[in-house]
Amino acid sequence: MPKITIEQPDGDSEVFIADDKTLLAGLELAGSAIVPVGCRGGGCGICRVKVLSGQYETKKMSRAHISEDGEKEGLVLACRTLPKSDLRIVLATPQAIANRQQKIQAKKTQLITEKEV
Ligand code: FES
Repeated sequence: MPKITIEQPDGDSEVFIADDKTLLAGLELAGSAIVPVGCRGGGCGICRVKVLSGQYETKKMSRAHISEDGEKEGLVLACRTLPKSDLRIVLATPQAIANRQQKIQAKKTQLITEKEV
């Protein structure tokens, strides 16, 4: 039963998922709604995450959503990924990346403001 740790700007979430499920299906069955769900078949790309650590296998993934270089860096579609160990992941949809950058910028601004006071 792999433990999936999902890094988020407000703190990590940990979810245990069934052995024989894809990453997305396992998270859904465990009640986690952190990874967005779309087609569930590799067609829409909305479930894109980056695996930061751990072992996994993937079913065939569309190059429209995961480039060859991205795949080498750990980008996967959660609906096409089978965890083979505990995984640490982070959301990698354009919206999630934009949200993370916004929060990082807000924290930097807050720190600069606090230094000036
Ligand atoms: S849910 Fe559409 S690609 Fe994964």
